[in-house]
Amino acid sequence: MTGLRVAVFRELSALNIEIAALKILDGESCLSQASYNTIKLEREDSAAWIILNRPHKLNTFNEEMMDELYDALNAVEKDAGIRCVVITGEGDRAFSAGADITAFPKVTPVKGEEFSRKGQKVFAFLEEMSKPVIAAINGYALGGGLELALSCDFRIAAEHAELGSPEINLGIIPGWGGTQRLVRVVGFKNAKRLVMLGERIKADEALRIGLVDAVVPSEKLRQESMKLAQRLASGPPIALKYAKYALNFGSQFPLEAGTRLESLLMALLFSTNDAKRGVEAFTSRSKPEFKGD
Ligand code: COA
Repeated sequence: MTGLRVAVFRELSALNIEIAALKILDGESCLSQASYNTIKLEREDSAAWIILNRPHKLNTFNEEMMDELYDALNAVEKDAGIRCVVITGEGDRAFSAGADITAFPKVTPVKGEEFSRKGQKVFAFLEEMSKPVIAAINGYALGGGLELALSCDFRIAAEHAELGSPEINLGIIPGWGGTQRLVRVVGFKNAKRLVMLGERIKADEALRIGLVDAVVPSEKLRQESMKLAQRLASGPPIALKYAKYALNFGSQFPLEAGTRLESLLMALLFSTNDAKRGVEAFTSRSKPEFKGD
């Protein structure tokens, strides 16, 4: 490169960085204030990426990570610019290998119950979030790591990922909702195999039993997860929120109560501008631009 070209390139690079920073501030992004020790919070278009960040310990959960995850989930839930959330692990070995076992010897029954309830509350908050959440499973998803993935709406696994609930091998059982969500996702037969035998299964077997929605080449995990995130982010946010509500909670009621909840939510959606946009786009054969109002 000539001297002039180098100077122009530098100027443009600096300008790009400034524009990127302004874009983040403009959107009142959650990223501007976030600073964490055990996770990373990044934004790509209208998706938030939450990255579990203890790769040397296979992204295992300690109390700090659970607290920081809760904080980050709250931040993205409040951020109107974020329309989809993706959770993954740092590095290529693990999504998360579960709770940090090194803390277990000091756990009293009272502390154990508190840690279990805390995890259950954080994962329930995640499940209840108004925005779609994707687990991009980039390696081991074991114990609490699998429970985290089970609380997400979609699970995409890298082909080298391995999933399981090995707690039984430690003389305990899952404590962050795993026994309950596994049954709902893969049925009694597979849940018993995973929880009672502590079997670790590979990604293709996880796909076969419906534990994950897709398996992709490892190097394409980010790209494929982002593709799904963009698709969800372009959907109607209020309808997506109510769809989650009807599916997650309506299905816990007797059918009659669940279908009545469905009617009320569907009726409510007729009052949104996005429903008008959707219908107008259908009649004019164009693509709707949903805005979340
Ligand atoms: N808690 C604490 N540390 C953990 C951990 C966990 N759940 N899982 C892995 N680690 C640590 C290892 O101790 C090791 O740390 P070190 O390098 O300081 O010794 C590091 O992460 C890498 O793990 P390692 O066991 O060396 O890797 P591996 O490829 O041989 O095996 C696993 C990977 C995931 C199969 C194995 O680590 C494992 O079975 N972990 C426990 C998973 C589990 O039972 N989770 C549920 C907890 S309730």
